[in-house]
Amino acid sequence: MGGKILSIAAHVPEKILTNEDLEKMVDTSDEWITTRTGIKERHITKDNEYTSTLATEAAKKALDRAGISPMDLDMIVVASATHDYWFPATACLVQANIGAENAACFDIEAACPGFVYTLEIARGFLSIPNYNNILVIGAETLTKITDYTDRGTCVLFGDGAGAAVITKSDEEHFLGSYLKGNGKLGDLLIMPAGGTRKRCSEESIKNREHFIKMQGREVFKHAVVGMQEAAIKALENAGISPSEVDWLVAHQANKRIIDATRKKLGLPEEKVYINIDKYGNTSSASIPIALNEMYEKGLLKEGQIIVLDAFGAGFIYGAIVIKW
Ligand code: ACO
Repeated sequence: MGGKILSIAAHVPEKILTNEDLEKMVDTSDEWITTRTGIKERHITKDNEYTSTLATEAAKKALDRAGISPMDLDMIVVASATHDYWFPATACLVQANIGAENAACFDIEAACPGFVYTLEIARGFLSIPNYNNILVIGAETLTKITDYTDRGTCVLFGDGAGAAVITKSDEEHFLGSYLKGNGKLGDLLIMPAGGTRKRCSEESIKNREHFIKMQGREVFKHAVVGMQEAAIKALENAGISPSEVDWLVAHQANKRIIDATRKKLGLPEEKVYINIDKYGNTSSASIPIALNEMYEKGLLKEGQIIVLDAFGAGFIYGAIVIKW
């Protein structure tokens, strides 16, 4: 007895912010952004679109593709660093929006690897008899906490959501994983204010502390090492060699980080899916958005071995090896 991904779906807001738009907002250039990150444009929410709005749309599509009703869901888990509220959980908002009245609901905050973490959580719950269908979602509105006066971060982020229905199956499709944290380096990527430690105040607003603060160069170095470690260890735990991998679907934070991971695994370029050019860094949503695109293009075939690999604020990193 095991678990598998029954369906995958995604939703991004309509509005697009291009590199050319950003050239008019801060001292940057399309050339710098493209060569340093691989990003050309990103989707951004309007004021009346929230993380739960994107998550709900992705959830509806995932249910439709799975061919099950919202009432068949036993659990909803939302991974996000940009939840609508501290509480209630975004999973509860999604539950109400889709009418999944039988579902347990909770959120996790595991930054960019959030979706990878939800898959492991779902896989764990599926071993308990009364959990059969679990909806996992990675959803973000990072542009709402992005400082559009800071060129070091504002060119990077976009909004979006991806969702998957995970269900029990005779054969185990979750082959192995590796999840890790390194909390000592949390200050390198942080939103300093708005929590209980530094509550919202006139001073915190004046200091722009309700926005993402990142020491990009330092984060980059750790991301390369962390992504490589996670992929290699997850494959070891799954008993699979890199040569057996059909796809590396990595968190889309920076094309150069993904390239370094690919090279470490010895994979050719055609085995790596890249869509950072269209979405930027959508944190926990980036892997399911990529999987959804691959599904819609017919690139995902039964039996393929796929490595999902991510690194983010915390630091938290991790990879999971799945059989499609
Ligand atoms: N346009 C033009 N110049 C810029 C810009 C910009 N948008 N941003 C920075 N620069 C300048 C810097 O000021 C610096 O100039 P200087 O040399 O005169 O001081 C120069 O470009 C180089 O800056 P670096 O920060 O060293 O540039 P780097 O090549 O490292 O690229 C980047 C920066 C893209 C942020 C990269 O470091 C990166 O991708 N870091 C990792 C991001 C990441 O993976 N985050 C984790 C997940 S995010 C999450 O968890 C929410």
